[in-house]
This record gives sequence, C-alpha cells and structure tokens, in this order.
Amino acid sequence: MMHFLKLLSSLSFFICFVSCMTPNKAYKNHTKDMHSMVVCSHPAAAKAGIDILKAGGNAYDAAIATQFALAIVYPRAGNIGGGGFMVGRDADGKCFALDFREKAPEAASEDMYLDDQGNVIPDKSLVGIFAAGVPGSVDGMWTLFNEKGSLPWNQLIQPAIDLAKNGVVLTEKEAAHMNEYSVIIDSVSGFKTNYGSKKWKKGDLFVQSALAHTLENIRDFGRDGFYKGKTAEDIVRTSGQHQGLITQSDLDNYHSRWRSPIFCEYKGYQLCLMPPPSSGGVLIAQMLRVMEQMKLSEKGFNTAAYIHGLTEIQRRAYADRSEYFGDPDFVVNHVNTLLSQKYIDSKYSDIKVDKATPSSEIKKGDVNRIESFETTHFSIVDKWQNAVAITTTLNGNYGSKLVVEGSGFLLNNEMDDFSVKPGSPNQFGLIGGEANSIRPGKRMLSSMTPTIISKDGKLYAIVGTPGGSTIITVNLQIIADLIDFNMSMEEAVLAPKMHSQWLPDEIYLEKGRFDSAIINQLEAMGHRVKEVKSLGKPDCIKVLPDGSLEGGTDPSKGDGTIEGF
Ligand code: GLY
Repeated sequence: MMHFLKLLSSLSFFICFVSCMTPNKAYKNHTKDMHSMVVCSHPAAAKAGIDILKAGGNAYDAAIATQFALAIVYPRAGNIGGGGFMVGRDADGKCFALDFREKAPEAASEDMYLDDQGNVIPDKSLVGIFAAGVPGSVDGMWTLFNEKGSLPWNQLIQPAIDLAKNGVVLTEKEAAHMNEYSVIIDSVSGFKTNYGSKKWKKGDLFVQSALAHTLENIRDFGRDGFYKGKTAEDIVRTSGQHQGLITQSDLDNYHSRWRSPIFCEYKGYQLCLMPPPSSGGVLIAQMLRVMEQMKLSEKGFNTAAYIHGLTEIQRRAYADRSEYFGDPDFVVNHVNTLLSQKYIDSKYSDIKVDKATPSSEIKKGDVNRIESFETTHFSIVDKWQNAVAITTTLNGNYGSKLVVEGSGFLLNNEMDDFSVKPGSPNQFGLIGGEANSIRPGKRMLSSMTPTIISKDGKLYAIVGTPGGSTIITVNLQIIADLIDFNMSMEEAVLAPKMHSQWLPDEIYLEKGRFDSAIINQLEAMGHRVKEVKSLGKPDCIKVLPDGSLEGGTDPSKGDGTIEGF
C-alpha cells in the first residue's frame, strides 16, 4: 500500500511538473544578446525607459522616466499621487533601498476611521480624500535623480509629458479597466474627469491635458513642481473641498528616506530586499531560511508536499507580520531578532510534514476576505549592470478614486494599509497590530518587496510583482523557482502560483493550473484550498551566464512588456 501511495504521489508530481510548467499563453521573450532592459506593465512606459537607456542614460534615469510614464499610461497603479519602494544595485555591487512610501497627514489620528462605538466606518479608509496618504513618488524620483541620475531631469520627464499631451492608445485591458472604474472616479471626484469622458475601447486615444501641465511643472521645478505652487495648491484645495486632512505643511514635510536593505544569503545567492516599512524583505529572508533548513525543494516543484510546506511557513511568517512590523521611524521592528536562528527555531519547529496546522493555533484572528489589488512593479538593467527594482502603487485600483481637480492625477488610498483598528482586517485581509497603528507623519506598513539577487559578486536577477499581500509569497516562489528549480526567468514568472497568509486559513491556487490530485492531497492534510483567477503580475529580469539578459512577464495577466537592446 505504502509503495502504491509513493508511486501515485511520484506520478502526480510528474504530472504536476509537466502541466504546471505549461505557460499560461505562449509568448516569445527572445532577449538573447541584450544587455540593457526594461520590463514593466505597459508597452509605452517600457519604451519611455528603454529610450532613455538608448540615449546613454543609466538604469536610474530610465527608472525615473518609466515611473512618470506609468503614471500616464497605467493610471490604475502607476502614479504621481502615490508612493513606492526601490531597491537598487550599482554596477560595483553596492545595494541600497529608497523608501518613497506615503505618510499619514499631520492631522491624522489613531481612530480616524472609527465611529462613536469604535467600529470601522466602511470604506472611509478606501475611498475619497480621507483614504489618501501624503504622496511620495515625486519626491522619491527627485531624490533618486539627485543621487544617481546622469541625464538632465527634463529629459527624463518629457516622455511622460508627451504621452499625456498627445495621448496614449488604450490597450484592450486598459480600456476595460477605465470603463469599469470611470463612474466611481467621477462620482468620488465630484466632477467629470477624463476617465468618465466616454465609453472607452481598444485603440482610443486617452489624452490628459491637465496632467501634462502638472508634469511640465515637475519638469521645470523638480520636487517643487509638485509639493509647492499650483500642483500643491490644487491638492490642498481638493483636500479642503472634500473635508480631507492634507495641508501644505504635509507636502512641505514629505521626504523620502534612504534605508539599509535587508540582506540574506540563500544557497550561495545574495539577496538584497526591501526593509520596513515593507514587511516583505524580513519575511522573505525568514521564509527562505526555513525552506533551506527543511530542504523543502527536495519535495519537488509544486507537489502537494511542497505546497503544504510553503503554506505552513507562510502562515507562521504572516502571523508575525501582523504583530511586529511598522514604520521604523516610529516603532522598533526587531529585525535582528526575527531573523535570528533561535527565533526561527522557536517559530517553525512545530511544522508537520503531512498535517496542516490550523492558523487559529498560531495566532487568533478572524478574517474572511481577500480582494483584488493593484500595484505595479518594474525592473531595469543598464549596460553597466546598474540595476533597479521599483514597486509603486496607489494601493487599490485607481487608489482613492479621487482626481485632484486642475492637476489631473489620482490620489492613493494607502491609509487602508495602516491597521485602522488593531485586530481588524484591511482590504487584503491583513490583520494589523499596534506597531502599524495610525500616527501623524507615519508611514503605513507595506508588502511591496522589490528584490535584487546577486551571485559571486555579480548581478543575477531582479524580481518583483504587484499583488497586495500576495506580493511576498509570489516573490518567494519566483526566487525559489530560479534557485531551487533552475528555471529560466520566463519559466519562473509563468509557473503556477500559490498563496497563503495565516488568515484566512486557506491556500489560494491559481485556477486550473494545479492538478486535482494535488488539491485532494492538500485537503487530505487538512488544508482548505480555494482557486483564484491569478496571483501576482511579475515583471522581472535574469542575467544569463554570458551576461546577456532574459526578461520575464506574463501576458495572460496584463500588458507587461519586455524592451531591450
Ligand atoms: N498597498 C499595498 C502594499 O503596499 O502592500
């Protein structure tokens, strides 16, 4: 009987390996002989970045051009009204992290989303001005430019201005998204915005004149073109009109922060990861250590035993997330403790190889929702092998849905990433603890985890994805697929993804991409399995042994584009 079960399980491993390796949709990423590359979520933004590299700019210049272009052509997540994180690696191997995450306004308070009875007021942290943190993206790009830029600032902003002025031809997916959200955007904004000006279809030209003018101010005045003058006045006036909290003083006091990355070693590879206020870097470092100790890869790629092991690791890691992470300028994150061997042993030693641990036994909580999410990630390498990983966001699709009148851009709804009420879930079902409670000027906790991997002192890969709480687990799988299963970047990006996060006590699997035998085995171990449409939307780059680059994006998940030369 044992023998038969073993045979059955090996057979299902094999079937899974074959079916799981089938890409969602065939596509070519022939990028051999390329030594400069931009991979991002929209063709026009990828072109803006690659044109800067062709003009002799470095990866940091191209990142600035791409970030601003995404704000025009990918407005559901690309932004100037939001924030993000960057992990960079200079050609000489030095890694660094830049935090341009939004901050709570100075008038924010711990209970600003609660009613008189202490209950969360639905949607207040998600829709409209109250949901918006003080934007960080423009300051972030300006800070990056001043430290690392090589071409003139105006040259980096001009492609975005041209896209806004001349219009961008809508892809089918972008047109569908705009039609879905235009009514709520107009209603929340309180005027007829560009989004609601017509019913959109593929091929339509989306012109954003007000936003073009805002970008001209940024082009001409740098940081001050956003945080001072007309744009700032528009933000403050919009905030006042909607009884919001953002003031000129908030804009004056917004500053990006250089942070020390989280470094970790995995099987001879060196990872440079985003530190708090992202929870992702510490959690990925912790989870990789456990995966290595458990020799998880020996269970085989995406077998039931492998997915079980990942789930047990992830649910323990995410229980930590809710408890221990917050803005390092306000709370101690205990990073060294969380990554110490003693702590990891105490936390993970009770994992059983064949039985699910109910999440309720790990930590109490009550969550039953996980919703869609929008963020975007891009990866860039230049001919010198400077490398950039940026994940940037408005949080939800089109952020707070509030367009700044006169300036033409959307504000984020990042305030929902705070624990609006400790113990209650946010839109990703993530429970927040005291460490992530709202304070004036504080940054909200994030899952965004731009990552750079090196080997033997050389750049090896740039990894990142959007996906709210699933960012961390999708990145983890791409890293493991590259290193443990020796996949190409294309294979790693296209490989079927799973996700679990402590609460809800469920495993999410990409629908139709895992064999039913695997699902049955997981259920027999006591797991609740739920199929979801898709997980993550990675845009990544791998350096091949000959030094050329291989891009990875998944065409079934969006308009991701690889541009290189
Ligand atoms: N807004 C999603 C995140 O920062 O994780």
